[in-house]
Amino acid sequence: MNPRNSLPSHVEIVEVGPRDGLQNEAQPVPLDIKVDLVNRLSAAGFPNVEAAAFVSPKWVPQMADSAAVMARIQRRPGTVYSALVPNMKGMEAALAAGVGEVVVFSAASEAFAQKNVNCSIAESITRFRPVAEAAKAAGVKLRGSISVALGCPYQGAVAPAVVADVVRRMADLGCDSIDIADTIGVGTAGAVQAVFEASAAVVPMARLAGHFHDTYGQALTNIYAALQLGVASFHASVAGLGGCPYARGATGNVATEDVLYLLHGLGIATGIDLRAVVEAGDFITCAIGRPNNSRAGRALLAKWAAEQGEPACAA
Ligand code: HMG
Ligand code: MG
Repeated sequence: MNPRNSLPSHVEIVEVGPRDGLQNEAQPVPLDIKVDLVNRLSAAGFPNVEAAAFVSPKWVPQMADSAAVMARIQRRPGTVYSALVPNMKGMEAALAAGVGEVVVFSAASEAFAQKNVNCSIAESITRFRPVAEAAKAAGVKLRGSISVALGCPYQGAVAPAVVADVVRRMADLGCDSIDIADTIGVGTAGAVQAVFEASAAVVPMARLAGHFHDTYGQALTNIYAALQLGVASFHASVAGLGGCPYARGATGNVATEDVLYLLHGLGIATGIDLRAVVEAGDFITCAIGRPNNSRAGRALLAKWAAEQGEPACAA
Protein backbone atom coordinates (compact mmCIF):
# COMPACT_ATOMS: atom_id res chain seq x y z
CA MET A 1 0.00 0.00 0.00
CA ASN A 2 1.16 3.53 -0.82
CA PRO A 3 1.49 5.34 2.57
CA ARG A 4 0.80 8.70 0.90
CA ASN A 5 -2.75 7.89 -0.16
CA SER A 6 -3.65 4.36 1.05
CA LEU A 7 -3.87 3.18 -2.56
CA PRO A 8 -1.97 0.16 -3.93
CA SER A 9 1.74 0.94 -4.37
CA HIS A 10 1.94 -1.15 -7.58
CA VAL A 11 -0.71 -1.74 -10.22
CA GLU A 12 -0.73 -4.24 -13.09
CA ILE A 13 -1.94 -2.91 -16.42
CA VAL A 14 -3.11 -5.43 -19.02
CA GLU A 15 -2.80 -3.81 -22.44
CA VAL A 16 -5.80 -4.96 -24.48
CA GLY A 17 -5.39 -2.70 -27.54
CA PRO A 18 -4.21 -5.38 -29.99
CA ARG A 19 -7.33 -7.46 -29.22
CA ASP A 20 -10.13 -5.30 -27.76
CA GLY A 21 -8.82 -2.23 -29.57
CA LEU A 22 -8.56 -3.73 -33.03
CA GLN A 23 -11.33 -6.37 -33.04
CA ASN A 24 -13.96 -3.83 -34.02
CA GLU A 25 -12.09 -2.39 -37.01
CA ALA A 26 -14.16 -3.00 -40.14
CA GLN A 27 -11.18 -2.89 -42.52
CA PRO A 28 -8.60 -5.67 -42.04
CA VAL A 29 -5.58 -4.32 -40.19
CA PRO A 30 -2.44 -5.64 -41.94
CA LEU A 31 -0.60 -8.39 -40.07
CA ASP A 32 2.66 -6.38 -40.02
CA ILE A 33 0.90 -3.52 -38.24
CA LYS A 34 -0.56 -5.85 -35.61
CA VAL A 35 2.83 -7.47 -34.98
CA ASP A 36 4.56 -4.09 -34.80
CA LEU A 37 1.95 -2.84 -32.32
CA VAL A 38 2.37 -5.86 -30.02
CA ASN A 39 6.16 -5.52 -30.18
CA ARG A 40 6.04 -1.82 -29.30
CA LEU A 41 3.73 -2.52 -26.37
CA SER A 42 5.92 -5.36 -25.10
CA ALA A 43 8.95 -3.10 -25.30
CA ALA A 44 7.09 -0.50 -23.22
CA GLY A 45 7.13 -3.00 -20.34
CA PHE A 46 3.56 -4.29 -20.01
CA PRO A 47 3.36 -7.43 -17.86
CA ASN A 48 0.47 -8.67 -20.01
CA VAL A 49 -0.50 -7.87 -23.60
CA GLU A 50 -3.79 -9.27 -24.86
CA ALA A 51 -2.54 -9.99 -28.34
CA ALA A 52 -5.10 -12.27 -29.98
CA ALA A 53 -8.51 -13.95 -29.95
CA PHE A 54 -8.96 -17.55 -31.07
CA VAL A 55 -12.66 -17.05 -31.77
CA SER A 56 -14.72 -17.93 -34.81
CA PRO A 57 -13.58 -15.82 -37.78
CA LYS A 58 -17.21 -15.79 -38.87
CA TRP A 59 -18.02 -13.85 -35.71
CA VAL A 60 -14.96 -11.57 -35.50
CA PRO A 61 -13.12 -11.54 -38.85
CA GLN A 62 -10.47 -9.07 -37.65
CA MET A 63 -9.02 -11.68 -35.28
CA ALA A 64 -8.72 -14.40 -37.96
CA ASP A 65 -4.92 -14.00 -38.22
CA SER A 66 -4.32 -14.47 -34.48
CA ALA A 67 -2.07 -17.51 -34.98
CA ALA A 68 0.10 -15.55 -37.42
CA VAL A 69 0.33 -12.62 -34.97
CA MET A 70 1.45 -14.96 -32.19
CA ALA A 71 3.97 -16.66 -34.49
CA ARG A 72 5.62 -13.43 -35.59
CA ILE A 73 5.84 -11.29 -32.45
CA GLN A 74 9.09 -10.92 -30.55
CA ARG A 75 8.41 -12.34 -27.12
CA ARG A 76 9.79 -10.29 -24.29
CA PRO A 77 10.63 -12.13 -21.07
CA GLY A 78 8.38 -10.59 -18.43
CA THR A 79 5.42 -10.09 -20.75
CA VAL A 80 2.59 -12.63 -20.76
CA TYR A 81 0.79 -12.83 -24.12
CA SER A 82 -2.89 -13.49 -23.51
CA ALA A 83 -5.70 -14.42 -25.87
CA LEU A 84 -9.46 -14.93 -25.79
CA VAL A 85 -10.66 -18.52 -26.15
CA PRO A 86 -14.40 -19.36 -26.36
CA ASN A 87 -14.24 -23.16 -26.74
CA MET A 88 -11.93 -26.16 -27.22
CA LYS A 89 -11.37 -25.38 -30.88
CA GLY A 90 -9.98 -22.00 -29.86
CA MET A 91 -8.03 -23.60 -27.03
CA GLU A 92 -6.23 -26.01 -29.34
CA ALA A 93 -5.24 -23.11 -31.59
CA ALA A 94 -4.19 -20.97 -28.62
CA LEU A 95 -1.97 -23.69 -27.15
CA ALA A 96 -0.40 -24.37 -30.56
CA ALA A 97 0.32 -20.65 -30.84
CA GLY A 98 2.09 -20.55 -27.46
CA VAL A 99 -0.33 -18.30 -25.60
CA GLY A 100 0.73 -17.62 -22.00
CA GLU A 101 -2.70 -16.83 -20.62
CA VAL A 102 -6.07 -18.03 -21.85
CA VAL A 103 -9.09 -15.79 -21.34
CA VAL A 104 -12.50 -17.41 -21.15
CA PHE A 105 -15.34 -14.92 -21.42
CA SER A 106 -18.96 -14.89 -20.43
CA ALA A 107 -21.39 -12.24 -19.27
CA ALA A 108 -23.49 -11.03 -16.38
CA SER A 109 -26.62 -10.98 -18.57
CA GLU A 110 -28.20 -13.83 -20.48
CA ALA A 111 -29.06 -11.53 -23.38
CA PHE A 112 -25.44 -10.46 -23.89
CA ALA A 113 -24.12 -14.02 -23.56
CA GLN A 114 -26.46 -15.07 -26.38
CA LYS A 115 -25.29 -12.21 -28.62
CA ASN A 116 -21.58 -12.65 -27.90
CA VAL A 117 -21.03 -16.38 -27.52
CA ASN A 118 -24.37 -17.76 -28.82
CA CYS A 119 -25.28 -19.63 -25.64
CA SER A 120 -26.48 -19.12 -22.07
CA ILE A 121 -24.15 -18.19 -19.22
CA ALA A 122 -24.46 -21.73 -17.82
CA GLU A 123 -23.69 -23.28 -21.23
CA SER A 124 -20.65 -21.03 -21.60
CA ILE A 125 -19.32 -22.19 -18.24
CA THR A 126 -19.85 -25.84 -19.25
CA ARG A 127 -17.97 -25.14 -22.49
CA PHE A 128 -15.09 -23.60 -20.51
CA ARG A 129 -14.61 -26.64 -18.27
CA PRO A 130 -12.41 -28.61 -20.69
CA VAL A 131 -10.68 -25.35 -21.66
CA ALA A 132 -9.82 -24.76 -18.01
CA GLU A 133 -8.59 -28.33 -17.58
CA ALA A 134 -6.42 -28.02 -20.69
CA ALA A 135 -4.99 -24.72 -19.42
CA LYS A 136 -4.04 -26.30 -16.09
CA ALA A 137 -2.55 -29.35 -17.83
CA ALA A 138 -0.48 -27.13 -20.12
CA GLY A 139 0.61 -24.83 -17.28
CA VAL A 140 -0.82 -21.69 -18.85
CA LYS A 141 -2.62 -19.07 -16.81
CA LEU A 142 -6.41 -18.93 -16.89
CA ARG A 143 -8.39 -15.69 -16.71
CA GLY A 144 -12.14 -15.21 -16.74
CA SER A 145 -13.83 -12.12 -18.13
CA ILE A 146 -17.37 -11.06 -17.23
CA SER A 147 -18.96 -8.68 -19.74
CA VAL A 148 -21.72 -6.15 -19.05
CA ALA A 149 -21.05 -6.27 -15.29
CA LEU A 150 -22.25 -2.68 -14.90
CA GLY A 151 -25.10 -2.67 -17.37
CA CYS A 152 -26.24 -4.50 -20.48
CA PRO A 153 -27.23 -2.93 -23.82
CA TYR A 154 -30.05 -5.45 -24.21
CA GLN A 155 -31.23 -6.00 -20.65
CA GLY A 156 -30.38 -2.76 -18.81
CA ALA A 157 -29.42 -2.83 -15.14
CA VAL A 158 -27.31 -5.68 -13.77
CA ALA A 159 -27.35 -6.44 -10.05
CA PRO A 160 -23.98 -6.81 -8.24
CA ALA A 161 -25.18 -10.14 -6.82
CA VAL A 162 -25.60 -11.49 -10.36
CA VAL A 163 -22.04 -10.47 -11.21
CA ALA A 164 -20.77 -12.06 -7.99
CA ASP A 165 -22.52 -15.29 -8.94
CA VAL A 166 -20.67 -15.41 -12.28
CA VAL A 167 -17.42 -14.56 -10.42
CA ARG A 168 -18.06 -17.63 -8.25
CA ARG A 169 -18.59 -19.83 -11.31
CA MET A 170 -15.39 -18.49 -12.89
CA ALA A 171 -13.51 -19.13 -9.64
CA ASP A 172 -14.91 -22.67 -9.49
CA LEU A 173 -13.50 -23.22 -12.99
CA GLY A 174 -10.07 -22.39 -11.57
CA CYS A 175 -9.60 -18.90 -13.01
CA ASP A 176 -6.49 -17.31 -11.54
CA SER A 177 -7.95 -13.86 -12.11
CA ILE A 178 -11.35 -12.51 -13.05
CA ASP A 179 -12.17 -9.35 -14.99
CA ILE A 180 -15.15 -7.22 -14.10
CA ALA A 181 -15.94 -5.59 -17.44
CA ASP A 182 -18.02 -2.50 -18.09
CA THR A 183 -18.45 -3.37 -21.77
CA ILE A 184 -20.60 -0.37 -22.63
CA GLY A 185 -18.99 2.09 -20.22
CA VAL A 186 -22.17 2.98 -18.32
CA GLY A 187 -20.92 2.41 -14.77
CA THR A 188 -20.31 5.21 -12.29
CA ALA A 189 -18.02 5.17 -9.26
CA GLY A 190 -20.55 4.04 -6.65
CA ALA A 191 -21.86 1.24 -8.84
CA VAL A 192 -18.29 0.11 -9.54
CA GLN A 193 -17.53 -0.07 -5.83
CA ALA A 194 -20.74 -2.03 -5.19
CA VAL A 195 -19.84 -4.62 -7.85
CA PHE A 196 -16.27 -5.03 -6.60
CA GLU A 197 -17.43 -5.30 -2.99
CA ALA A 198 -19.97 -8.00 -3.91
CA SER A 199 -17.36 -9.86 -5.98
CA ALA A 200 -14.70 -9.61 -3.27
CA ALA A 201 -17.06 -11.46 -0.95
CA VAL A 202 -16.54 -14.43 -3.31
CA VAL A 203 -12.84 -14.20 -4.25
CA PRO A 204 -10.03 -12.05 -2.83
CA MET A 205 -9.82 -8.54 -4.30
CA ALA A 206 -6.28 -9.40 -5.45
CA ARG A 207 -7.79 -11.77 -8.05
CA LEU A 208 -10.14 -9.16 -9.52
CA ALA A 209 -9.39 -6.72 -12.33
CA GLY A 210 -11.27 -3.73 -13.73
CA HIS A 211 -11.96 -3.54 -17.49
CA PHE A 212 -13.63 -0.21 -18.18
CA HIS A 213 -14.82 1.19 -21.48
CA ASP A 214 -15.09 4.97 -21.58
CA THR A 215 -18.37 5.54 -23.42
CA TYR A 216 -19.74 7.94 -20.79
CA GLY A 217 -16.35 9.39 -19.80
CA GLN A 218 -16.39 7.63 -16.42
CA ALA A 219 -13.54 5.17 -16.82
CA LEU A 220 -10.73 7.05 -15.02
CA THR A 221 -13.05 7.91 -12.14
CA ASN A 222 -14.14 4.29 -12.00
CA ILE A 223 -10.51 3.18 -11.83
CA TYR A 224 -9.90 5.59 -8.98
CA ALA A 225 -12.99 4.27 -7.17
CA ALA A 226 -11.74 0.69 -7.60
CA LEU A 227 -8.21 1.65 -6.47
CA GLN A 228 -9.75 2.95 -3.24
CA LEU A 229 -11.02 -0.59 -2.59
CA GLY A 230 -7.58 -2.06 -3.24
CA VAL A 231 -8.12 -3.27 -6.82
CA ALA A 232 -4.63 -3.42 -8.33
CA SER A 233 -5.16 -4.74 -11.87
CA PHE A 234 -6.77 -2.84 -14.73
CA HIS A 235 -7.14 -3.20 -18.46
CA ALA A 236 -6.57 -0.37 -20.89
CA SER A 237 -6.25 0.13 -24.62
CA VAL A 238 -3.55 2.22 -26.24
CA ALA A 239 -5.00 5.44 -27.72
CA GLY A 240 -8.39 4.35 -26.33
CA LEU A 241 -9.01 2.20 -29.40
CA GLY A 242 -11.86 -0.23 -29.61
CA GLY A 243 -15.41 -1.18 -28.95
CA CYS A 244 -17.33 -4.42 -28.83
CA PRO A 245 -18.87 -5.82 -32.03
CA TYR A 246 -21.82 -7.07 -29.96
CA ALA A 247 -22.47 -3.82 -28.05
CA ARG A 248 -23.46 -1.14 -30.55
CA GLY A 249 -22.39 2.37 -29.56
CA ALA A 250 -19.83 1.19 -27.01
CA THR A 251 -16.56 3.07 -27.43
CA GLY A 252 -13.06 1.94 -26.66
CA ASN A 253 -11.48 0.98 -23.39
CA VAL A 254 -10.04 3.68 -21.24
CA ALA A 255 -6.84 4.92 -22.93
CA THR A 256 -3.71 3.35 -21.49
CA GLU A 257 -1.77 6.61 -21.66
CA ASP A 258 -4.42 8.35 -19.50
CA VAL A 259 -4.38 5.53 -16.94
CA LEU A 260 -0.58 5.61 -16.71
CA TYR A 261 -0.62 9.40 -16.33
CA LEU A 262 -3.08 9.07 -13.44
CA LEU A 263 -1.28 6.19 -11.72
CA HIS A 264 2.22 7.64 -12.04
CA GLY A 265 0.86 10.97 -10.77
CA LEU A 266 -0.42 9.14 -7.70
CA GLY A 267 3.01 7.63 -7.11
CA ILE A 268 1.77 4.17 -8.11
CA ALA A 269 4.38 2.04 -9.91
CA THR A 270 3.46 0.17 -13.09
CA GLY A 271 6.84 -0.70 -14.61
CA ILE A 272 5.60 0.75 -17.90
CA ASP A 273 7.29 3.47 -19.95
CA LEU A 274 4.61 6.11 -20.64
CA ARG A 275 6.60 7.69 -23.47
CA ALA A 276 6.85 4.37 -25.31
CA VAL A 277 3.09 3.85 -24.95
CA VAL A 278 2.33 7.35 -26.24
CA GLU A 279 4.55 6.62 -29.25
CA ALA A 280 2.78 3.27 -29.79
CA GLY A 281 -0.56 5.11 -29.68
CA ASP A 282 0.67 7.59 -32.29
CA PHE A 283 1.95 4.70 -34.43
CA ILE A 284 -1.29 2.71 -34.44
CA THR A 285 -3.68 5.64 -34.89
CA CYS A 286 -1.62 6.93 -37.82
CA ALA A 287 -1.36 3.42 -39.29
CA ILE A 288 -5.11 2.72 -39.26
CA GLY A 289 -6.34 6.29 -39.66
CA ARG A 290 -8.16 6.53 -36.35
CA PRO A 291 -8.32 9.49 -33.97
CA ASN A 292 -6.08 9.22 -30.92
CA ASN A 293 -8.59 9.08 -28.05
CA SER A 294 -6.01 9.50 -25.31
CA ARG A 295 -6.09 13.01 -23.85
CA ALA A 296 -2.70 12.49 -22.18
CA GLY A 297 -1.32 10.96 -25.37
CA ARG A 298 -2.40 13.90 -27.52
CA ALA A 299 -1.13 16.44 -25.01
CA LEU A 300 2.27 14.77 -24.70
CA LEU A 301 2.64 14.36 -28.47
CA ALA A 302 1.86 18.05 -28.96
CA LYS A 303 4.32 19.01 -26.20
CA TRP A 304 7.12 16.85 -27.62
CA ALA A 305 6.46 18.04 -31.17
CA ALA A 306 6.64 21.65 -29.99
CA GLU A 307 9.92 20.92 -28.19
CA GLN A 308 11.32 19.43 -31.41
CA GLY A 309 9.77 22.09 -33.64
CA GLU A 310 7.94 19.29 -35.55
CA PRO A 311 4.24 18.77 -36.37
CA ALA A 312 2.53 15.81 -34.62
CA CYS A 313 0.56 13.25 -36.65
CA ALA A 314 -2.83 14.75 -37.52
CA ALA A 315 -4.80 11.57 -36.71
P1 HMG B 1 -21.40 -20.71 -32.96
O1 HMG B 1 -21.73 -20.18 -34.32
O2 HMG B 1 -22.51 -21.02 -32.04
O3 HMG B 1 -20.39 -21.94 -32.98
O4 HMG B 1 -20.45 -19.63 -32.28
P2 HMG B 1 -20.23 -23.20 -33.89
O5 HMG B 1 -19.55 -24.22 -33.04
O6 HMG B 1 -21.54 -23.53 -34.55
O7 HMG B 1 -19.18 -22.70 -35.00
C1 HMG B 1 -19.51 -21.87 -36.08
C2 HMG B 1 -18.33 -21.85 -37.04
O8 HMG B 1 -17.21 -21.23 -36.41
C3 HMG B 1 -17.85 -23.25 -37.43
O9 HMG B 1 -17.29 -23.14 -38.72
C4 HMG B 1 -16.75 -23.53 -36.44
O10 HMG B 1 -15.80 -24.48 -36.91
C5 HMG B 1 -16.12 -22.17 -36.29
P3 HMG B 1 -18.02 -23.80 -40.00
O11 HMG B 1 -18.18 -25.26 -39.67
O12 HMG B 1 -19.36 -23.08 -40.12
O13 HMG B 1 -17.07 -23.51 -41.13
N1 HMG B 1 -15.51 -21.99 -34.97
C6 HMG B 1 -14.27 -21.56 -34.78
N2 HMG B 1 -13.29 -21.20 -35.64
C7 HMG B 1 -12.13 -20.79 -35.10
N3 HMG B 1 -11.91 -20.71 -33.76
C8 HMG B 1 -12.87 -21.05 -32.89
C9 HMG B 1 -14.09 -21.50 -33.39
N4 HMG B 1 -15.25 -21.89 -32.80
C10 HMG B 1 -16.10 -22.21 -33.78
N5 HMG B 1 -12.64 -20.95 -31.58
C11 HMG B 1 -18.67 -19.04 -30.78
C12 HMG B 1 -19.99 -19.78 -30.94
C13 HMG B 1 -18.38 -18.98 -29.30
C14 HMG B 1 -17.59 -19.82 -31.52
C15 HMG B 1 -18.83 -17.63 -31.38
O14 HMG B 1 -19.95 -17.04 -30.82
C16 HMG B 1 -17.63 -16.76 -31.16
O15 HMG B 1 -16.55 -17.02 -31.68
N6 HMG B 1 -17.82 -15.69 -30.37
C17 HMG B 1 -16.74 -14.76 -30.07
C18 HMG B 1 -17.29 -13.37 -30.02
C19 HMG B 1 -16.20 -12.41 -29.70
O16 HMG B 1 -15.02 -12.66 -29.90
N7 HMG B 1 -16.62 -11.24 -29.18
C20 HMG B 1 -15.72 -10.18 -28.84
C21 HMG B 1 -14.84 -10.50 -27.68
S1 HMG B 1 -15.64 -10.39 -26.11
C22 HMG B 1 -15.38 -8.77 -25.67
O17 HMG B 1 -14.94 -7.96 -26.45
C23 HMG B 1 -15.68 -8.38 -24.28
C24 HMG B 1 -14.42 -8.19 -23.42
O18 HMG B 1 -13.57 -7.20 -23.98
C25 HMG B 1 -14.81 -7.72 -22.03
C26 HMG B 1 -15.82 -6.61 -22.13
O19 HMG B 1 -15.49 -5.48 -22.45
O20 HMG B 1 -16.97 -6.94 -21.87
C27 HMG B 1 -13.65 -9.48 -23.26
MG1 MG C 1 -13.83 -4.98 -23.75
